[in-house]
Amino acid sequence: MSVDTKTAEAAGERRRLDSNEFRDIIGRFASGVTVITVEHEEQPYGTTASAVCSLSLEPPMLLVCLNKSSSTGQAIAAARRFAVNILGEGQADAAMCFAGKGDKFAGQRIVRGVAGQPLLGDALANLECRVVEEVSGGTHTVFLGEVEEATGGHGAPLAYFRGQFGRLELKQDDEAHHDIRARVHSRELPVGDRSASTRSPRSWESPAARPTTRSPSSAARGSSRAPPTAGSS
Ligand SMILES: Cc1cc2nc3c(=O)[nH]c(=O)nc-3n(C[C@H](O)[C@H](O)[C@H](O)COP(=O)(O)O)c2cc1C
Repeated sequence: MSVDTKTAEAAGERRRLDSNEFRDIIGRFASGVTVITVEHEEQPYGTTASAVCSLSLEPPMLLVCLNKSSSTGQAIAAARRFAVNILGEGQADAAMCFAGKGDKFAGQRIVRGVAGQPLLGDALANLECRVVEEVSGGTHTVFLGEVEEATGGHGAPLAYFRGQFGRLELKQDDEAHHDIRARVHSRELPVGDRSASTRSPRSWESPAARPTTRSPSSAARGSSRAPPTAGSS
C-alpha cells in the first residue's frame, strides 16, 4: 500500500488532502477537552477547544488554536488574556454547551480567577494566561499565552477521540482489572461470595464501594444501582 503512494508521489501525482480526510485522520490523535474563557468589556466569552498544547516550562507557556470566526478568539485578541479550563470526565455537557452559541454561562458555576478571568469552578484545572504572541495559521489563530496563575484538582479528565467523548483508562487500572478477571476465571477468587454482601462495611470503605441490595420497588424507581456480579460483564 505504502509502495503505491510513494510511486504516485514520485510520479508527481500527489493530490491535496481534503479537510474531511484530514479531520478523520487527525481525529485519531486523542486529546483532553478544555473550555477557553475570557472577559472583554464586561462580557464573558467561552468556547470548547481541544487544540490546546503545553509549549514551554520556563517561562510556563501554552498555546490555543481558535478558528478566526470564533467570537471567543476575537475577544481574546482584544483583551490579550484568556483562561484554559481543563474539563473533568463528567463534564461532557459543559463541553457541548460551550461548543454551541448563545448564553453559554447560564447554569455554569463561574468563579473569578486571581488574574480576573471568568473560570469554570468545577473544572479539573484552571490556567490564567496573558497573550504574548498571536500567529495566523490557515483558518485559525494560534494564541501563545504565558501562564500567570494555575490551580488543579484531583480526578480524571474528559477525553476526546475520533469525534467522541470518552474516559481515559490508566494502564495500571486496566492491568488490575485484567488481573482480577483472570483470577475470577481461574476460580482463585470466589464468584458471588455471599459472605461479602452480608459483612459490615469496613471503616475505610466509601459508601459507593459498599455492597448494595436492590429491592424490586427500588429497582422500579431506579433509586439504587446494584453493581454487576463478577463474570456477568
Ligand atoms: C470537542 C470539541 C473541541 C473543539 N475544539 C476546538 C478548537 O480547538 N478550536 C476551535 O476553534 N474550535 C473548536 N471547537 C468548536 C468550537 O467550540 C465552536 O465552534 C464554538 O461554537 C465557538 O464558539 P464561539 O464563536 O462563541 O467562540 C471544538 C468543539 C468541540 C465539541
